[in-house]
Amino acid sequence: MPTNPTPRDNFGSKFGIIAAAAGSAVGLGNIWKFPYVAGENGGGAFLLIYLFFVLLIGVPVMMSEFAIGRKGQKNAYGSFSLIAPGTRWNLIGFMGVVAAFFILAFYSSVAGWTLEYIISSVSHRFAGQSPADLERNFIGFISSPLKPIAWQLVFMVLTALIVLAGVKKGIEKYTKLLMPVLLFLIILLCIRSVTLEGGKDGLAFLFKPDFSKVTGKTILFALGQAFFSLSLGMGALITYSSYFSKKENLASTAVEVAISDSVIAILAGVMIFPAVFAFGIEPGSGPSLVFITLPGIFQQMPGGDFFGAVFFILLAVAALTSTISLLEVVVAFFSEELKISRRKATFIATASISVLGVFASLSFGPLDKFTIFGKSIFDLLDYTASNVLLPLGGLLIVLFVGWFAGKKIIKQELTNEGELRAKYFLAFVNIVKFVAPVAIAAILIYSIFWGGLG
Ligand code: TRP
Repeated sequence: MPTNPTPRDNFGSKFGIIAAAAGSAVGLGNIWKFPYVAGENGGGAFLLIYLFFVLLIGVPVMMSEFAIGRKGQKNAYGSFSLIAPGTRWNLIGFMGVVAAFFILAFYSSVAGWTLEYIISSVSHRFAGQSPADLERNFIGFISSPLKPIAWQLVFMVLTALIVLAGVKKGIEKYTKLLMPVLLFLIILLCIRSVTLEGGKDGLAFLFKPDFSKVTGKTILFALGQAFFSLSLGMGALITYSSYFSKKENLASTAVEVAISDSVIAILAGVMIFPAVFAFGIEPGSGPSLVFITLPGIFQQMPGGDFFGAVFFILLAVAALTSTISLLEVVVAFFSEELKISRRKATFIATASISVLGVFASLSFGPLDKFTIFGKSIFDLLDYTASNVLLPLGGLLIVLFVGWFAGKKIIKQELTNEGELRAKYFLAFVNIVKFVAPVAIAAILIYSIFWGGLG
């Protein structure tokens, strides 16, 4: 194993690029978080505002990350160093590495739960349980000291094995395989859900906007969710785009990834709300919607254990293609900046993130009394990453692209050195200079001073 692997690994195909980037975007954020956040914020109205932000701010921020990564041809930190040598803009990349640690620590803990729930569904463990039993068992499981940690470590090792195999032979190969599987499973579950009797009200809830429910908070939640769901603000897409070919059209790729991510979020809503309404459950039942409410619903359906298993496999697959992108941020940084082999970098990154992850897991059990600023370790990691580091990273990224990097460099990347036309360029520049910074600064200030965005 050479210590500094050259030449750099790359994605081999257009579909590989879309699968990897959409795989990063589509995750627990779409299937676990989006339905309950939409459920708590008025359904259809939230969806519309969310889509508006994805297009107006998400796509331009994603194009900015793509331009930085492909220009820099390095990890998130190194790409800034290359474009703006001798400045401290590269601290954005460093912040991204810290954010990746935090997000992976709590995300892998939830991802581990999906594995336990696959096994429970397959072995008919939910049979005959009342909603109260399901709730007690869920809480019993996440608060037990060993089992959730064991599953979390299994999930981290799976992630590490794929990352270790490299960009083309690991990330691209597996996301190309897993993303179609994910699409197939979610469509299967959508069909099951909308054909349930009484499911129509669920579709109305999701697609008929009730604007009387919209408050300032709804709008801010929608923007925060757009950032998290599109994997923006911490250099995951800078890192991925550093492996894109010079021929890739960055603007259309960003649009395609944003559309895929939004379609999957909408399908997740189509899968969950009809079932929720058909069985008379509160759509705003919060984070437990997926782990307590849904198994309850599956219990009442014919073939429930089968569909339950399919659902949790779907969730695990979606989470895996996201954890890969998070780990890659850290591995690329370690291997390129500390000049160690990819193998060593993967090992160090996985081991150290897992240690932090164990504390995140334990905060539901033995460490549940241990709080910092009134938050458990899990919540603190989620809060700091999602509500502070991601928006701050996003803000700095658009400021960098809009005001510092120089129009010429950015235009070169977006037009592939003048080969593509970029009729949207003026609009793009205005968004990254003015609209996006103002909007992002607003959520950042709101979430820091007025408490959690969830
Ligand atoms: N977007 C993923 C989801 O919706 C999570 C994720 C992966 C992420 N990589 C990220 C979030 C980078 C923020 C930044 O579940």
